[in-house]
Amino acid sequence: MFSVKNFVLHYLLLCVSYTCGALNNKRFPDNFLFGTATASYQVEGAWNIDGKGENNWDKVTHSTPSPVRENATGDIACDSYHKYREDVDILKTLGVNHYRFSISWSRILPTGFTNKINQDGLAYYANLIEELKENNIEPVITIFHWDTPQDLENIGGWTNEVIIDLFEKYAELLFKTYGNDVKYWITFNEPKQTCQGGYGSGEMAPVIKSPGIGEYMCVHNVLKAHAKVWHMYNDQFRENQKGHVGITIDTQWAEPNSNSEEDVQAAERFLQFTFGWYANPIINGDYPEVMKKLIADRSEKQGFEKSRLPVFTDEQVEFIKGTADFLGVNYYTTRMVQHTTDPQTMVYDWIADMEIHSYQKDEWPSTASNWLKIVPWGFRKLMNWLKATYSDIPILITENGVSEDGSSLEDDIRIYYFQEHLSNLRDALDDGVNIFGYTAWSLMDNFEWMKGYTEKFGIYSVNFSSPNRIRTPKKSADYFKYVMRTRCLVQESDCVDSV
Ligand code: NOJ
Repeated sequence: MFSVKNFVLHYLLLCVSYTCGALNNKRFPDNFLFGTATASYQVEGAWNIDGKGENNWDKVTHSTPSPVRENATGDIACDSYHKYREDVDILKTLGVNHYRFSISWSRILPTGFTNKINQDGLAYYANLIEELKENNIEPVITIFHWDTPQDLENIGGWTNEVIIDLFEKYAELLFKTYGNDVKYWITFNEPKQTCQGGYGSGEMAPVIKSPGIGEYMCVHNVLKAHAKVWHMYNDQFRENQKGHVGITIDTQWAEPNSNSEEDVQAAERFLQFTFGWYANPIINGDYPEVMKKLIADRSEKQGFEKSRLPVFTDEQVEFIKGTADFLGVNYYTTRMVQHTTDPQTMVYDWIADMEIHSYQKDEWPSTASNWLKIVPWGFRKLMNWLKATYSDIPILITENGVSEDGSSLEDDIRIYYFQEHLSNLRDALDDGVNIFGYTAWSLMDNFEWMKGYTEKFGIYSVNFSSPNRIRTPKKSADYFKYVMRTRCLVQESDCVDSV
């Protein structure tokens, strides 16, 4: 097990296996938040218990043939619905400042509409929040982490604008019920996965392939829904509840393949298409200019009467602008990006619309997830890009983490990943980026969407064959605990206080 005594030796050994830089030895500020995250469908289980309605992931995982690896489902998952007290005990042992979890819409409103409010569902989250508060752990709540009530999915889900008002009603119920105890609300987690995965490439629930059209319609509605919820909180709840409402956006860092102007612009385009797609409307009021222009031009060449990217009215632009109290950011990895000589003009999908070529370097350490290569310096660069692009909006890192195959509790790769990423994050604080917290993904191994249970992201392992879903700390849990206790990444005697 990890111990402070063998810390230096341990770190040196890790550096033999991976390429290490010197770690930043400054302490994180006292008010910097450290925590871990999960999401409802990935951990709760109890998919049809106590009045919960079906959602899109229930539907997809129960379909035959199933698109999910090994036909896995979240029917039981980590059984956190029944074991939340144990989860909070673990969080307490770890010494986290906050716990980020999501609420299952269909557990509270089984049909997605407010025609029926499931009291057992409301009670579950009330108990979880109470347990957290009693243990001095700040709840950070994601209102939507990909699990759309199936009744709404049946009518087009996020591509049907009917969902906007329904989402607002659902959020209103949450603010009314839990708002006095919750200071951080996240409207959406990674809308790119909901929209591009769900309705573009079809790689996520509801598995609809409508590339170049579905994802843009979906994002348009997501942004309107987000803005409505922010305004509702601002007008009706902020004064009394004094909380903050943000959104979590994910992106990989895009490193230009060369210093050429074309590659630099291609990398910027990648970031605008991936992050700016949401952040630009929310912070500045509209889609990034480069997206508007490229998609309009390509749509025209492709024979569409108007751009495949929907257009906001001036009124909508004003309404959406300025609707985030903070930005949640999920960072995992980086891609090299270059100008493409083959813009695939007649292909319409979000990736082709970017007109770039991207790849990951072979020399970057691999993990159990084929998309996730370890590139810690990309984290610092992304943080600096965010500051340069969106000024000083407060940033909460809502996810960062790495997967392994679960063959050992000695997850050195994860310790290395945390050390290097946290060090780059500490550097970014030195650079003046306004980051107020870090959330490790994940508290425990869980249902990793289409990969089922084959890619493990937890600092706790879960035995999915034991009826009791026994949780066991991995070596990285001890390291993370050490960091949270000392607020420092290196041996305590080498830590220096931050000024
Ligand atoms: C981002 C998602 O929010 C989370 O649900 C997922 O498990 C992790 N990335 C790891 O892929």
